[in-house]
Amino acid sequence: MNKFSVVIAGGGSTYTPGIVTMLLDNLDQFPIRKLKLYDNDEERQRVIGEALEIVLRENAPEIEYAFTTDPDEAFTDVDFCFAHIRTGKYKMRELDEKIPLKHGVVGQETCGPGGIAYGMRSIGDMIELIDIMEKYSPDCWMLNYSNPAAIVAEACRVLRPKAKVLNICDMPVGTLRRMSQIIGKQPKDLDVRYFGLNHFGWWTSIKDKEGHEYLPEIRDYVAKHGYLTQVEVDTQHMDQSWQETHKKAKDLLAVDPRFLPNTYLKYYFYPDYVVEHSDIHYTRANEVIDGREKEVFSAAERIVEKGTAKNESFSAGSHATFIVDLARAIAYNTHERMVMIVENNGAIANFDDDAMVEVPCIVGTDGPEPLSQGKIPEFERALMYQQVTVEKLVVKAYVEGSYQKLWQALTLSKTVPSAKVAKALLDDLIEANKEYWPELH
Ligand code: NAD
Ligand code: LMR
Repeated sequence: MNKFSVVIAGGGSTYTPGIVTMLLDNLDQFPIRKLKLYDNDEERQRVIGEALEIVLRENAPEIEYAFTTDPDEAFTDVDFCFAHIRTGKYKMRELDEKIPLKHGVVGQETCGPGGIAYGMRSIGDMIELIDIMEKYSPDCWMLNYSNPAAIVAEACRVLRPKAKVLNICDMPVGTLRRMSQIIGKQPKDLDVRYFGLNHFGWWTSIKDKEGHEYLPEIRDYVAKHGYLTQVEVDTQHMDQSWQETHKKAKDLLAVDPRFLPNTYLKYYFYPDYVVEHSDIHYTRANEVIDGREKEVFSAAERIVEKGTAKNESFSAGSHATFIVDLARAIAYNTHERMVMIVENNGAIANFDDDAMVEVPCIVGTDGPEPLSQGKIPEFERALMYQQVTVEKLVVKAYVEGSYQKLWQALTLSKTVPSAKVAKALLDDLIEANKEYWPELH
């Protein structure tokens, strides 16, 4: 069996220890010869890097390991780059959430104005990362989680169309885990049909390998409880705000009971509810800073202090499982069926070819082959067209440095009530993002 060299970009991320744990648990299925962590924040990289050095020494000393802020060292001789960077870190996520709320608008990491602001920050860093990867390891695949995935994927399509970058999201996998629990199955027992954009989609079928359709059964459950399950199925998406989001899925289902909704539709269908239930002084960014970030970094510091990782563990949720499964699918041509973000090109028959959509794909050595999802109904299609146009306008605004196009993107977002509010918001976001956005004129 070939052994692979992997670099994790955003090596100081709260998700890095979980992904490394998952890699170590699966060395028999995905053997690794080299593992490197790369971050542009030396201090974050040091804490996570030193702790994982101990984890590796104790569990897989045969793997060559390094953590670095040097792109040359990080990207030389790598087969896979797992990327999850956050341009502007949590300081900027907090502003993405709080600035819109000040204007009475949804404040969210990837949806609405917060996602647009984050997109304008992420594009430059992602393109730079792809260029570094191609310079040092031209055959490397990048499996990219960095958000906002929809805008990042559109930017890759426009700016680096030939790059070996696969944009992915853990939400369809996480929700499928919940659905499996509801019907007493394992996610791997089920094949789904799904259509949409990232953080904006619907399941149209959930079948077992014998072809039994579970959608009606799951729908009956979701109509009562949303995706809240009896037994916890994941270590991720568990905080209080997520429990409310899983529950709210029942109101999303009510809007179109034919299909099972992605939880993120809550920000588009019920923005008034979301704003009413938000606390401008304590948003999701604060919840993560006080929760996951503290837990992960304190565990890492304890490991370094004690010099051992015994009695410490990092949780590896569906996020980590998915990226390792995807790497395996490419490495070993497994033809696993996975929901991915890809250029439409007919997968959704009555939607634009050049839209980045989220659909099931068969994944092998050449990457994803999208499965045809047929024609979609007018309600979902119209919503998707509005949203995908927002995403395209953001990328155009970035490329052209266009104030006008970004104002249009904000005006078009279903979360923003008027062009007046959009303009006021845009001016605040420009001020907050001076360090990161290109100049707009
Ligand atoms: P985090 O802030 O804990 O980690 C991100 C790391 O990236 C930080 O250590 C930061 O220093 C580093 N970084 C920023 N810019 C960089 C650059 N140009 N080069 C190298 N490193 C850089 O964030 P997190 O909460 O762990 O999330 C990481 C990313 O993963 C975010 O983009 C988040 O939105 C995304 N995410 C995606 C999904 C998904 O399903 N698509 C799910 C969860 C998180
Ligand atoms: C994150 O952890 O920041 C993202 O997965 C989304 C969220 O808000 O949990």
